[in-house]
Amino acid sequence: MNKTRAAIFASGTGSNFSAIMAAKDLNCDIACLVCDQPEAAVIKKAQAFNMETIILSPKAFPTKADYEKEILTRLKQKGITWLFLAGYMRLIGDTLLHPFTGKIINIHPSLLPDFPGLDAIGQALTAGVSRTGVTVHYVDDGMDTGPIIAQEEVDILPEDTKETLQQRIQTVEHTLYPSVIKQLMNDTY
Ligand code: GRF
Repeated sequence: MNKTRAAIFASGTGSNFSAIMAAKDLNCDIACLVCDQPEAAVIKKAQAFNMETIILSPKAFPTKADYEKEILTRLKQKGITWLFLAGYMRLIGDTLLHPFTGKIINIHPSLLPDFPGLDAIGQALTAGVSRTGVTVHYVDDGMDTGPIIAQEEVDILPEDTKETLQQRIQTVEHTLYPSVIKQLMNDTY
């Protein structure tokens, strides 16, 4: 049987991209990177794997639907059936959501439903909570609102800065995300 083909969507550094690529026995092929930021560091990481990249600036399209239609066409050509969002800084619109319902997942640096949206780590520090964490969830049409698949807690230390907390959160992300993907691809959830 052919392996499932998946795309990673990212806008920035791509440390989660690297963690997914480094994982063993994912039971899927990461067949392409979709990136909306032509200067993003993640692009070079994908090129180092000789991976196909879809790099499109949404500004170059009249509407969001047109932008997503172009991505959809290319994903279909490549036989991609799952989308893994890893720091993709846009809401997925209907054009992509509909054909991939239940097949799009995202990683978020908080214990959702707490602190959705931008700067979740800063939000947690400002709120003065003693723990936050990481969530992997299915994507729906809201901002970080889809059904939760897995969560892991991270303690906030009194001396934490945004940088130190982010480092510990990302360490957790880099194991949690590949492990969730592996279980989903093996149908063991
Ligand atoms: C991660 O913290 C992820 O939870 C959030 O965006 C960040 C992406 O980081 N959605 P990276 O580009 O994978 O390093």
